Amino acid sequence: MTGVARLRAAGPDEADAVQAVWESSNAEDDPASWSRGGWSVIGWATHTRVLEVDHRVVGVVAVRAEPAPDQAMPARVALDISTRQPRLAQKLVRGAVELIREAGGVRVRLFVPSRAEWTQTAARAAGFEPVRMVAHMLLPASAPTPQAGPVAGLHLRPIRPGEDRRVLAALNRNWAGTWNFVSIPYEMLKEDLDGQREGMLLALDDADQIIATCHAVYAPSGQNPDGNPRAWISNLTVDPGHRERGIARFMLAAGIAHLRERGASSITLGVDANNPAPFRLYQSVGFQISTSTEAWDKELTR
Ligand SMILES: CC(C)(COP(=O)(O)OP(=O)(O)OC[C@H]1O[C@@H](n2cnc3c(N)ncnc32)[C@H](O)[C@@H]1OP(=O)(O)O)[C@@H](O)C(=O)NCCC(=O)NCCS
Repeated sequence: MTGVARLRAAGPDEADAVQAVWESSNAEDDPASWSRGGWSVIGWATHTRVLEVDHRVVGVVAVRAEPAPDQAMPARVALDISTRQPRLAQKLVRGAVELIREAGGVRVRLFVPSRAEWTQTAARAAGFEPVRMVAHMLLPASAPTPQAGPVAGLHLRPIRPGEDRRVLAALNRNWAGTWNFVSIPYEMLKEDLDGQREGMLLALDDADQIIATCHAVYAPSGQNPDGNPRAWISNLTVDPGHRERGIARFMLAAGIAHLRERGASSITLGVDANNPAPFRLYQSVGFQISTSTEAWDKELTR
């Protein structure tokens, strides 16, 4: 492909073309996570640009003009596999920087699948540096269910009706202080619990305080990257005053056992690989990295 490359706003009738490039690019760069399916780039982005070569849409720049606590605004790029050339990759990355500059951002955070060397090379050339890695991990179906606990003074049970606000408060207390954490809104918890209440496991102390949480989600209409029924763990959290006593290990074991009792075999989760506590815990029970996404940052000078 030798034609003139042009970055421009997407037309109102181009949503399908944008999504098609997005999906083919991600299927190449992150095939395992792609099977989670149905992620609309236009739904996520607040601003997009398409890359057109020879009157064909071959690339997409998508940014979300919503700063993280450290002021970074997220951006993503996609490029059709048949057109992967350094000059086009660089055009996309520069396009992301421009969009965020126009949106008033002071730091660009480009999310890049670890396999997408084409993006990383262009990002490095544009002055980006890797800052973080999110690992998507999988516990293979053949891995035994870990045995752990119980923990003295704590009892385990699922969330009860009318308890959602209390669980939300516990989650926000327990997550506080993790990298760029933004409080979980009530609506998001409600969505997570929809059809999945029995897997929201809580550990309570004798005073009925919620000390730890683990959400074990079973959604067998979907598939894990290895083709087994979709099952994952999220919101594994422990109260800061009760850490390093084996409570997370106990909750994780309970979550895995719960999922397997319901019919799950392999189990997935996502974790900040730069946060040693959860990452080591997951590795120690047999979770392996299936794919990963990196965050690359660039400061904008005004
Ligand atoms: C991650 C978290 C749940 C761990 O809770 P915890 O009850 O302290 O963990 P446990 O005592 O059960 O420790 C289990 C394993 O985690 C690892 N671990 C725990 N704390 C650690 C630390 N400070 N440094 C390194 N590894 C650590 C160890 O492998 C440990 O096993 P070991 O005790 O046999 O060495 C807790 O730190 C937390 O709530 N963090 C905020 C929320 C979060 O990041 N959740 C992870 C979601 S992906």
